[in-house]
Amino acid sequence: MIKPALHHVTFKTTRLSEMIEWYKLVIGVDVMFQNDVAAWTTNDAANHRIAFLAVPGLSDDPQKISHNGMHHCAFEYESFADLMESYDRLRKAGVEPAFTLDHGLTISIYYRDPEGNYVELQSDCFSDWKKSGEWMRTSPAFAANPIGVFFDPARVYDAFKANPDFATLQKSIRAGDYLPTPIPNIGLPG
Ligand SMILES: [Fe+2]
Repeated sequence: MIKPALHHVTFKTTRLSEMIEWYKLVIGVDVMFQNDVAAWTTNDAANHRIAFLAVPGLSDDPQKISHNGMHHCAFEYESFADLMESYDRLRKAGVEPAFTLDHGLTISIYYRDPEGNYVELQSDCFSDWKKSGEWMRTSPAFAANPIGVFFDPARVYDAFKANPDFATLQKSIRAGDYLPTPIPNIGLPG
């Protein structure tokens, strides 16, 4: 079969301007087209990546966390250094992570957008999709704990600044040396 590539995500929203501003700040989208009830934005060469429909009749879902639907979409940096730099840029802009996880295959920082959709910013632990995919498929460590290990991003940021050796730092994260207190909720029931 001919397999299509993933192209964009479209949100229903009652906060069109706020959502556009948030995605501008977090992932650097530009608005390609906007009217009163919709916007199409992108942060790369595609015509749109994140779009919004803001027609009348929409409302928040107070039970979003326990209802079916999308949990998050994710964006990947080329390096852990880029992920850390972006974490620092965002916290200086007042945007703090909701939770942060070492998944083994990626280091992932999750943010909550103005309507409670999570956006994951990640870097590949192997800097190689083939290798991280192989690790995911075959590693007993992933099978035993596919969610991964929580970490305190501020402490990890400081540690990486002091010694930018990702392999050593990741071992330490996975050993639980940077666990946050308390362990945050990850946007799921329970
Ligand atoms: Fe993810």
